[in-house]
Amino acid sequence: MTHQHDGGAHLHNETHHDGDAAQFWDEVYREKAKRWSGNPNPQLIAEATGLVPGTALDLGCGEGADAIWLAQHGWTVTAVDVSAVALERAAAHAADVGIQDGIAWLRRDFASWHPEEGFDLVSSQFLHSPILPWRDSLASAAAAVAPGGALLVVGHHPDGLTPWSGHKDMKDKFFTPEDLVEALTRGPGSWRINVADSRERVVTGPEGQQATTIDSVLRATRRS
Ligand SMILES: C[S@@+](CC[C@H](N)C(=O)[O-])C[C@H]1O[C@@H](n2cnc3c(N)ncnc32)[C@H](O)[C@@H]1O
Repeated sequence: MTHQHDGGAHLHNETHHDGDAAQFWDEVYREKAKRWSGNPNPQLIAEATGLVPGTALDLGCGEGADAIWLAQHGWTVTAVDVSAVALERAAAHAADVGIQDGIAWLRRDFASWHPEEGFDLVSSQFLHSPILPWRDSLASAAAAVAPGGALLVVGHHPDGLTPWSGHKDMKDKFFTPEDLVEALTRGPGSWRINVADSRERVVTGPEGQQATTIDSVLRATRRS
């Protein structure tokens, strides 16, 4: 989602929604033939490139660019999202680039579904939602990591929101890397923190304007 220039306004509106995440996100996706850039997230590439491929879980996979990148780099991927519209696009994108297998696309709502355990990599990229507390998503993601496996969580830093995002008045929905480390290490399991960074990135807005955003990046290895 190297391009997320207008998703913020939708997140803001989600606070007024009736709680049906599937309907809400399907509408968000239907508004545009293509919601995201089609490119994998840069922090995924930066952090997963050095890992030995195995099984990967992409939580909130959207239109599938990260899952496709992972499959192209040897991972066996389970990619999960609440939006059937996004998942249809993701599967079509995978077929377009010649991926026949290696990715299982699953439609699930994280409010009621929790992934199986035992993945070598669990990736959660910009899974922000006013109706899905990030601490709950983090706990669920962490529980799915196998001993020896990696957890990668990337999201918007509350001090690095773009002027056009509409996020300014809901900063508590976002997290710093320190927030992520604190929440992870309070929970079950023993973790080695490999990366806890705030990374700046220049992004382009809906009118072609540019701004610097900040990604909060956590990569941790599960010891037990
Ligand atoms: C901001 S998008 C990010 C998509 C992708 N990870 C990326 O970086 O391009 C958030 C994604 O999370 C999904 N999502 C939001 N709430 C969800 C929930 N309760 N259960 C499952 N997926 C959810 C949305 O459908 C959407 O595709």
